[in-house]
Amino acid sequence: MPGRKVATRPRKLPRAVVLIGFMGAGKTSVGSALARQLGWVFEDLDDRIERHEQRKVHEIFRDSGEAGFRRAEHSALKEVLSELRGGAERILALGGGAFVQVHNASLIRAAGVPTVFLDAGIEELWRRCRRQAEQHGVERPLLGSLEHFHQLYKARRPHYLRASLSLETGGKTVKRIAAEVVQTLGLDRRGGSRGEKQ
Ligand code: S3P
Repeated sequence: MPGRKVATRPRKLPRAVVLIGFMGAGKTSVGSALARQLGWVFEDLDDRIERHEQRKVHEIFRDSGEAGFRRAEHSALKEVLSELRGGAERILALGGGAFVQVHNASLIRAAGVPTVFLDAGIEELWRRCRRQAEQHGVERPLLGSLEHFHQLYKARRPHYLRASLSLETGGKTVKRIAAEVVQTLGLDRRGGSRGEKQ
């Protein structure tokens, strides 16, 4: 099926899923819907970083630079993965740069948690980010100009494509994307499913 790729299908049904993709890919909205459908907890890694650092992401970038942010991101990721090893059921959304750091990608692979790349066209991603900035005041330190955004996306996409599953999200509702993730990863085959909470 176009726009869908399953590189590795986990032998055991996963108890956690990691969502990756560029800024504006819908990781938070799809992740929340997915968690609702499965009755799992949703977590955004950036929220954990902000809790630990007692600063907003844009403040970490401003005061400690991108390198400081990546260090905090890596340590938050290590922490959450160790919780997942204990069997926690969770949907984890990563910030757009997290999976691009090879040591982060290796940690996730070693933990055996499937990754889902939410993809969309560059114009659509840009539109969503601009809208979130204008309507909801979302500050993304790496948003920059459209040209910079485009270059960053081109450089990162090959990394994202190493995910267990890649899904094209353009023109689809959040609910439909979440349902595709559930179906493709076989999460609808879980025994004792709590079903979807509307
Ligand atoms: C980043 C994306 C952001 C956040 C940080 C860095 C990136 O998350 O982690 O600003 O490198 O693309 P979103 O992808 O949720 O915007």
